[in-house]
Amino acid sequence: MARTLIAGNWKMNTTLSDAISLSISIRDQLTLPPDTEVVLFPPTPFAVPVRDAVRGTTIKLGVQNIHNEESGAYTGETSVTMLDGICEYALIGHSERRTLFNESNDFINQKIQACFAHGIKAILCVGETETERNEGITSQVITRQVESALRDIEGIERLVIAYEPIWAIGTGLVPEAEEVNHTLGQTIRSQIKSLYGTQASEETPLLYGGSVNPGNAYTFAQADHIDGVLVGGASLDSAQFVEICTQFTLDS
Ligand code: PGA
Repeated sequence: MARTLIAGNWKMNTTLSDAISLSISIRDQLTLPPDTEVVLFPPTPFAVPVRDAVRGTTIKLGVQNIHNEESGAYTGETSVTMLDGICEYALIGHSERRTLFNESNDFINQKIQACFAHGIKAILCVGETETERNEGITSQVITRQVESALRDIEGIERLVIAYEPIWAIGTGLVPEAEEVNHTLGQTIRSQIKSLYGTQASEETPLLYGGSVNPGNAYTFAQADHIDGVLVGGASLDSAQFVEICTQFTLDS
């Protein structure tokens, strides 16, 4: 069984004082059952103050992006080696990075390799566009993204995958939980099984992301293959984020 994981992606939002007060507010309201992880993804400059705010709790920390190289002439980038002692997770291949910053499947694969080589866990994001969905090729698109991202990976136990249909991100539109469950189970979990075996496929947490809010979290939580959620907008409001975590852990 995969662990439950709820992640909050703050994207390029918050000031330093917002980031600290948001993390303190989440920290003070959250109680988690065992086997449940909550991971906050603040903007990189606020990773250290947020780490300090949640120190001594079970809340974990991640960054929203990394570069695959360890160091060098890569102006503006952050390497995994810089994260040592700061955070445990990195988001890799979010659709905003793929679309706005032209990240290729190969680059995403290299980033995952860099993460795992340095003990950082990765939440790999995959998802189809509205056009691809309308053309009925969701499964092919996801299969291609997962296959290329996971090529020659060592350290598969550090993997989490978030299925985020691009048309659902920030739009208020959500797919049926049954549809998400099917994509996670039939496409993603079975692909992990064929690439890395049964244990990896059963233990890799699979998340849903895209317009998750306190009103729809419970429906997603009920689906067999949905082990957690990746929350964007609603993670900027501590009460909403904590309510989503609660909805997701009600039956555990
Ligand atoms: P959203 O974003 O919850 O605001 O739709 C999700 C994401 O981009 O990870």
